[in-house]
Amino acid sequence: MNRYAQQYRLRTQALLMLGDNWYGELAGGALSPRWQKQFEEMYPADVFSCPAYAIPGNHDYQRWPESKVAAELEYAQVGRNTALPTRWTMPSLWYRFDFPPTKPLITFIALDSNMPFSDGIETHGVNFTLTPQQQVEELAWLEAELKRPRTTPFLIVIGHHPVYSNGIHGDHPILIRDWDPLFRKEGVHLYLAGHDHDMQHLEFEGHPTSFVISGGGGAELTNPTIDPAQRGPYGQKVYGFSHLSATEDRMTLRHLDSNGSVLHAFTKSVDGKVSIL
Ligand SMILES: [Fe+2]
Repeated sequence: MNRYAQQYRLRTQALLMLGDNWYGELAGGALSPRWQKQFEEMYPADVFSCPAYAIPGNHDYQRWPESKVAAELEYAQVGRNTALPTRWTMPSLWYRFDFPPTKPLITFIALDSNMPFSDGIETHGVNFTLTPQQQVEELAWLEAELKRPRTTPFLIVIGHHPVYSNGIHGDHPILIRDWDPLFRKEGVHLYLAGHDHDMQHLEFEGHPTSFVISGGGGAELTNPTIDPAQRGPYGQKVYGFSHLSATEDRMTLRHLDSNGSVLHAFTKSVDGKVSIL
């Protein structure tokens, strides 16, 4: 990402941290030295001079030794009070922001997709989740936010768990039940997720939302379970990252491999037309 951003002289305006921000132990929480090495230095501020909007994934919800989600919320606060304020941005578990701040083009709805009882497993305890109460609150908030009038041409939702995925975790029954009807109704242009260790782009006939997974960020890759020729247009077991750009009439999403070569790219217009590049 660093090389790619420099090669194309990108004026990066946001980093989207799609969850599973921390694997393993985060000893010291918000004071862990890992923040410096694996966030501040990994995405250097001279290249990524922009906020890093973060949402929690299932690995963030591991208590290791304490809640890593609590540490991430705290780092967003504490890190801002130092001489060099952090770019880590996580005001709450779910939040909304218009982007960029001046003349915004995209309304982002950032969600916490860690549902209780997902995958048929009760997930409180060491690997905890949202509580059932929070799940209800978030859904009511999402419904209200999607209905709120906006001045931006584009509407994007980000969440860690895919709603639909050809990857190892598959489709998510709770998100299909609760979120997908709202995406359809309110015409969400794009849902961006991670969780599955691959890169994907899914389109469904008559559905206004493009479903994109950018999960090839470094952990061990997994094989797809549904062939993208069957349900696609794109899916690949490959390391990579994604680049989203927008103008007033169209967004462009590129999946790049670890050398910065394009794996798959498409544009989407305000009225929902998708063109594969
Ligand atoms: Fe995950």
